[in-house]
Parts: sequence; C-alpha cells; structure tokens
Amino acid sequence: MQKSILILGACGQIGTELTFALREKYGSEQVIASDIREGNENLMNSGPFELLDATNYDAIEDVVMHYEIEEVYLMAAMLSATAEKFPMRAWNLNMNSLFNILNLAKEKKISKVFWPSSIAVFGPNTPTENTPQHTIMEPSTVYGISKQSGERWCSYYFEKYGVDVRSIRYPGLISYKTLPGGGTTDYAVEIYHKALADKKYTCFLKEDTKLPMMFMDDAIKATMHIMETEVASLKIRSSYNLAAMSFTPAEISKSIQEHIPDFEIDYQPDFRQAIADSWPSSIDDTKANKDWGWKANFDLGRTTAEMLKNLK
Ligand code: SER
Repeated sequence: MQKSILILGACGQIGTELTFALREKYGSEQVIASDIREGNENLMNSGPFELLDATNYDAIEDVVMHYEIEEVYLMAAMLSATAEKFPMRAWNLNMNSLFNILNLAKEKKISKVFWPSSIAVFGPNTPTENTPQHTIMEPSTVYGISKQSGERWCSYYFEKYGVDVRSIRYPGLISYKTLPGGGTTDYAVEIYHKALADKKYTCFLKEDTKLPMMFMDDAIKATMHIMETEVASLKIRSSYNLAAMSFTPAEISKSIQEHIPDFEIDYQPDFRQAIADSWPSSIDDTKANKDWGWKANFDLGRTTAEMLKNLK
C-alpha cells in the first residue's frame, strides 16, 4: 500500500502546487489536503480535503488517525509582512502548528515531517552576499524570529526524540497557480500580473533591493527531493540553505520588458523595504547540493517566460 500524506495549509501558494505534485506521484486518495478555508476549484476537485486548523492538536490528531497518515507537510504560516501587523497571532500560528506536528511525530503517530523555513531567519548582521549555511542569525522580523526558533526546535526534536523532520530555507517563491499572501517577496509575483493587465507596476521595494528568489517548480522539486532523501545523507536538521537566482526589481522589470517592451515600473517603498533590507541578497546552498544533490533549473529569464506564458 502507498503511504498516506497530510498537507496542512494546502490552499496557500506552496501548498496548492505541492498537493498537485504529491497526488501525481503517490495517488490522489493518498494525499489529504487540509486548510482553515477551502482552496480553488482545481485543488478542491483533485482529491480528499479536510477543513483543519493547524493550531488545533486534537483535530489534527483525529485526521491523522482516520487516514492513517505517515507524513505531514506543514505549510500553514503567517508570512513576513502580515506578521509585522499581527505579531502575537503570527507567533501563535507559526509556533503552535509546529509543536503540534513535532509532538505527533514524537508520539510516533506520524513518521516524517516537512516544515519550511525561510531566508527570513537571517538578519541585518548576517553577511548579505552568498550567505553561508552557518552564520550570524539575528532576525529582526516577527516572521524571521518564528522561523529561526522553529529551526532550533526541529533540530532539538531530531536530536532528543529522533523525530525525522526535514526543512528548507525557501527564498521568495514565484508562481502563477495560487497568489502568495502577505510576504515581502510577493512583488515578484504581482509584477507579472500587473505587467499583463496594465503594462505598469508600482513596486513597494526600491529598484536596487536584491533578494534571493526561486520559481515554484524548483521549490516543489526541492521539497519532494529532500523528503525522499535517505536519512543518512541528511546532515542538517535545522534547515538547509537553498538558492536559485537573485535579482532586483529593476532587473525583473528589464526581463519583463524583453517580452512587453512598453512595460513600466515605478517605486514607492513602504514598510516592507525594512524587512527586505534585513535579508540576504544571495544564498550559498552548497550543503544542499552536496548532501542531497540540490540544483535549480530556473533562472530569471526562464521564470519570466513561464510566468508570462501561463498567466496570459
Ligand atoms: N517569501 C516570504 C516572505 O516574503 C519569505 O519566506 O515573507
């Protein structure tokens, strides 16, 4: 029999595509999608769905028992920009959901966990270019603090209780199937929608703010890959640095102009500028490459071509 998988936060930007990819691989009925609200029609029609609050341990346990779940992907979280507005809600959601899943694994009710971390674990004192796996981490955002604490807890549960939890520090993720919600890197998705609709975009970051980014196909590939990797190869149980490309708003707009020559961008930085300024510009992911063979496929040019083609 195929293993059963539960995805929490299945209706979000990553969760939606992860659900499709896991269903394709393991069978629709084996992958239980869940979220606090229903997702888009394609997702809802693609297989089993449960309304589930990631902070409710008993409700998650019921679903885990009912479907005999072995693996959980915890994609529910409040992202950086929204978390600055609701610090306590962000902390409660991001931490309690993680403890719920780590404790289910500690109790041996599930056997494997995926939990996403982020470039937000780094802070203003971190080296910004080619940020190493192990370096100064003093996050200055609510979201970053929750992700860094989460990494420490993942590592602790692995060391003390043998919990098989695996994690990746995602850069900003670019995708066309489901919109991101409440992140600082969201501009790199919005810009494609606006380029096609209005041929102009007002960016909430400055033109020279360089951030690490990744096309969703690469993020899904990395997620499935790290979950399939043999235990012995995984040397890092906090979270792996992961990289694909880095660019500024000016550079992404240039890449759009190659397809839409009269596209225009202007800049009105808001509170998200400070968040972006505290994050790295580029990431050194040699450990992920060495330990489990990670390599990205999509650069900026290819990402722009895919985004414009699919959003049209
Ligand atoms: N993309 C996320 C955000 O901007 C970072 O993990 O919040």
